[in-house]
Amino acid sequence: MLDAVKRVLTPSARSDVPPFMVMDVMAAAARIEAAGERVIHMEIGQPAAPAPASARAAAQAALAAGRITYTEMLGIPTLRARIARHYRESYGVEIDPMRVAVTTGSSAGFALAFLSLFDRGARIAVAVPGYPPYRHILSLLGCEPVMIETTPATRWAITPEMLLAAHRRKPLQGLLIASPANPTGTMMTREALRDLCAAAEGEGIRFISDEIYHGLDYAFPAETAARYSDNAVIINSFSKYFCMTGWRIGWMIVPEGLVRTIERLQGNLAISVPALSQTAAEAAFEGRAEMEAVKHGYAENRRILLEGLPKAGLDRILPVDGAFYLYVDVSRFCDDSFDFAKRMLERTHVAATPGADFDPLTGRRFIRFCYAGATGEMREAAERIGTWLKRA
Ligand SMILES: Cc1ncc(COP(=O)(O)O)c(C=O)c1O
Repeated sequence: MLDAVKRVLTPSARSDVPPFMVMDVMAAAARIEAAGERVIHMEIGQPAAPAPASARAAAQAALAAGRITYTEMLGIPTLRARIARHYRESYGVEIDPMRVAVTTGSSAGFALAFLSLFDRGARIAVAVPGYPPYRHILSLLGCEPVMIETTPATRWAITPEMLLAAHRRKPLQGLLIASPANPTGTMMTREALRDLCAAAEGEGIRFISDEIYHGLDYAFPAETAARYSDNAVIINSFSKYFCMTGWRIGWMIVPEGLVRTIERLQGNLAISVPALSQTAAEAAFEGRAEMEAVKHGYAENRRILLEGLPKAGLDRILPVDGAFYLYVDVSRFCDDSFDFAKRMLERTHVAATPGADFDPLTGRRFIRFCYAGATGEMREAAERIGTWLKRA
């Protein structure tokens, strides 16, 4: 009897994905706050600003109208058309609205992309350090994430040579890249993206481009892989540039031959994306001026930290090009960045994420700071860390 109960309650082996270590940092931060202290939160990658006023007003009007229903499986047609228009306006690239699929955040986009492109056992290259759910979702779908270690020498990006070398060792079926990247904030140049996309396609490797941090670029404009290939799968989201993390809405641009497959998958897995969020997202495009002001704040935060952290003693950082992260080498101070993050939180009340969350190989040397918070807090964080490290 006990054995039978145990069997019923045991989760499946494939659901055994690792948790985020940052959750432990957050729990420790919450304890400090419960004791009445103020913590500067630089651990979670989300904007401090709300969604554009236009989005919130559209959602309020839809709520007032009352009925919130299922929508078309791939999204409300006017939203799909508006997203296609965004490609014309922002990149000068023509996208057929029929190739746009609205998703429940980019997170659902990954699952839809992997399910539609790969069978069990497929090998998909991902950069480390990188966003952990790429690896975890692939694993739980029975695919094999192939970690390609990157370094500051290639601005934390996979090059065609690295891709082809891995492919020669054992064939790859897919490649997933992100530019700007998380946790490093670095970006690929147009040429680097074009060449990598061409190298993948030349070998029949499916190319997936996570463009969630587009719009948040400081050094040069981010380029979309849609310019270089109609076969690439593009994944994007309203979470970051449009400050809509909690609305859970994103989109994909998919090859024409995959549209119906994605539609069938979405219909079965979710029916459709929340209608209220879709209405808000369409209106969000009208709030660009407001979002550009928010981005201006990030640029200022980045400037303050790139000046303040080296003064504080944390000088091993690439001058990042986009997103809102700094990935800092702290190996001069410790051999375990989880411990460093814990001590830094205790002593300075500044919370950051240990690198091991993003990189099981060398992440113990790094921590990630998110600078999407208030500008005043950035200066204060750098000062607090400087005072601590000088005393330590
Ligand atoms: C690189 C990257 N991709 C995707 C996501 C998922 O975002 P969402 O599901 O909110 O669109 C995140 C979230 O932090 C991220 O950093």
